[in-house]
Amino acid sequence: MTDPFGPELWVTEGGDVAGMAGFVFPTRMVVIRLASGGLMLWSPVALTDQVREAVAALGTPRFILAPNALHHLHVADWQAAFPGVEVHAAPGVSARRPDLDISAELEATPDPRWAQEVDQVLMENRIATEVVFFHRPSATVIFTDLLQNMAPGRFTGWRGVVARLDRMVGPKPAVPRKFRMGFRDRAAARDGVRQILDWPAQRLLLAHGTPLREGAQAAVENAFGWLRP
Ligand SMILES: [Fe+2]
Repeated sequence: MTDPFGPELWVTEGGDVAGMAGFVFPTRMVVIRLASGGLMLWSPVALTDQVREAVAALGTPRFILAPNALHHLHVADWQAAFPGVEVHAAPGVSARRPDLDISAELEATPDPRWAQEVDQVLMENRIATEVVFFHRPSATVIFTDLLQNMAPGRFTGWRGVVARLDRMVGPKPAVPRKFRMGFRDRAAARDGVRQILDWPAQRLLLAHGTPLREGAQAAVENAFGWLRP
């Protein structure tokens, strides 16, 4: 359930959650163990006894990351389960979830407490501004919703048509069309992609799509090809 994906990095698959317009999405959490021994929990999945025990066996959760304004559903449960954990949320989360106890908003530069091991780039977007992360020890780049490649059979009926046209489903990771249109400042988006491509990434993780163990840079470059001037 909590599986190693790279050095000091684990992936936990959660259950499905309902999104907009009846689309049901799979969920995935990434657990990173920092050199200090503390854990970063990226986009927590539903808290169950099994997941909690698996995570606790790896270390003490220190930071919870809500990487965009759509990925915050289970944060409060994890915060309650691990008192003292700090919640760091992307811009837009606090407006949607005033009930959450957010320690800090994620910015364009990493918190000094994780900067040695985890870098980040802020990608402003009208649909949902996203913070893309890079875990250096495992050379893993971590996208939330800006890149997706769910299985073509995941959605049926009209949702299947929309998912295909939007590029939520397909053989390779792609930027869904609604997010492409959501980049109001294309120069800023290009700059963000340039920073992401500067990372020596090998592995690629997405919230909704097949993880890649190699070829991350080429996959990202391919997915953002439409953004080239
Ligand atoms: Fe998502």
